[in-house]
Amino acid sequence: MGKIYAILSKKGGVGKTTVVINLGAAFAERGQKVLLVDVDPQNSLYLGIGLYKERIDRGSFDILLKNVKPEEVIRETPYRNIEVIPSGPVTPYLEWRISSVSKNLDRLKNWLDYTGVKDRYDYILIDTPPTFNSITGSAVVASDAVMITVQSEPLAYRTLPAVFVFLRDIKEKLKPSLRVLGIIINMYDGREELMVQTARVLEEKYKNIPFKTRIPKDLNIAEALAYGKPVIFHEPGSAGARAFRLLAKEIKARETVLEQVIKR
Ligand SMILES: Nc1ncnc2c1ncn2[C@@H]1O[C@H](COP(=O)(O)OP(=O)(O)OP(=O)(O)O)[C@@H](O)[C@H]1O
Ligand SMILES: [Mg+2]
Repeated sequence: MGKIYAILSKKGGVGKTTVVINLGAAFAERGQKVLLVDVDPQNSLYLGIGLYKERIDRGSFDILLKNVKPEEVIRETPYRNIEVIPSGPVTPYLEWRISSVSKNLDRLKNWLDYTGVKDRYDYILIDTPPTFNSITGSAVVASDAVMITVQSEPLAYRTLPAVFVFLRDIKEKLKPSLRVLGIIINMYDGREELMVQTARVLEEKYKNIPFKTRIPKDLNIAEALAYGKPVIFHEPGSAGARAFRLLAKEIKARETVLEQVIKR
């Protein structure tokens, strides 16, 4: 059965979409079957995974509002082992309708379960908007665990408590099994003293939640995204590509620990 992880942040532009695409590619490179799901109304994930020439007429927003079959929304990508569900053509009215229908929080979860989509993949990674509304709530409810993306700078770091409050509320009220798999520090530059210090504070405050692997600020990552390619396929030897491979490995190791804890 596939593992479902939502990637969250309270702040925009910290690299959620980048992480979903590149972590997905790192799992795919290890031979795992991956589905990337976009629930961000910006609908930009499909561009970053190379489908910029495609006409997108359906997507995850249809799942949240009506009954659709998997084959109507799941798209192949140019990359082996990676498929995607875009969010679809999202109008402001549609976005408003979805984010105001809070009783539908388990729709995405049920769809992934009942259609059997969950069983077809090793990993389902969900890209979310930088707001905590019922769209993001649906993504969290559908997930086994979440990962939080931050930049190593004080302003970004101050948004973390709000993320944990949001997750605690969902865990208490809707999804007792919810876990935080880890915090991903993105756009890290070890030459910038402020970043080094902030990362240290983060590790002191959140103990072992931040992953040891930090994703470096690497122009190859931004360039690859603009070309619609994961950095692993664009520049396989780059620092960015190496970091995403290491992060995938670290996630696997954490999953093993979690499973052992559960078995005990
Ligand atoms: N490690 C990195 N090194 C260099 N550039 C990066 C890195 N991570 C992300 N970027 C760039 O930063 C920008 C924002 O990244 P991205 O779109 O993934 O953020 P996001 O959190 O999904 O944003 P939003 O909240 O708007 O959805 C992009 O142009 C991306 O290419
Ligand atoms: Mg994004």
